[in-house]
Amino acid sequence: MHQSKSLKKITTHVLQEMKRQGEKISMITAYDYSFAKIIDESGIDVILVGDSASNVMAGHKTTLPITLNEMIYHASSVVRAVSRALVVVDLPFGTYQGNSFEALSSAIRIMKESGAHAVKLEGGIEIKESVERIISAGIPVMGHLGLTPQAIYKFGTYVVRAKEEMEAKRLIEDSKILEDSGCFAIVLEKIPAKLAAEVAKERNIPLIGIGAGSGVDGQVLVLHDMLGINQEFSPRFLRRYNNLYKEIKGSVEAYIKDIKAQDFPNEKEQY
Ligand code: KIV
Repeated sequence: MHQSKSLKKITTHVLQEMKRQGEKISMITAYDYSFAKIIDESGIDVILVGDSASNVMAGHKTTLPITLNEMIYHASSVVRAVSRALVVVDLPFGTYQGNSFEALSSAIRIMKESGAHAVKLEGGIEIKESVERIISAGIPVMGHLGLTPQAIYKFGTYVVRAKEEMEAKRLIEDSKILEDSGCFAIVLEKIPAKLAAEVAKERNIPLIGIGAGSGVDGQVLVLHDMLGINQEFSPRFLRRYNNLYKEIKGSVEAYIKDIKAQDFPNEKEQY
């Protein structure tokens, strides 16, 4: 495995070339300037301003409540920090399902007001027309199949999707529809690894997995989950790279203790 030159700006074409060359794509979520700057400088390929902001930033139980204005606020904060990664922004629930004209106008607002590079939509055949209309306006689109959290009330649970043959067949067909409609990549969330590998092999565009095994073209995780900020969420697919909940709590407790003990500020920390 080799890695693209770290200074090369990532475009949708670079991602497709990475798939051709067999280089795995790294993707992570971010929602604000400070984290996005660290992540971009770490060399990540794609930053997703996910509607998971609804959960990890705003504390909602689902991704449904977040608004287009809120997504634009998060996205523009991220874009100001990024110089290398491709920035993809989720179209939030209710801003594209109505019809393809509504979808286009939501995508245009994201691109114009945040400066992001692409948008992501959840769904298969039902969003085909919207995907085509957005792409015809020159806006790159990433698809999202498998567990699609905006449809949580239809599924009822966050369990693994497409375990049954019919749903797996439908997912393969949807991935072809999204590719033929012009999507530059597709996220596959929480589906069997064997199915995800089969889809990645059949499609020419990159398939980025979350809970979809190692046979795909890249991986994405939610920042707060992989840093261990969020303690409540621990699905099997999540690898925690830190325990920032513990680190941050420990630091704040030490700060409180120093204030109470009149140890902070000391002589050197004042004017
Ligand atoms: O909103 C999000 O963070 C996502 C990822 C889970 C892929 O869509």
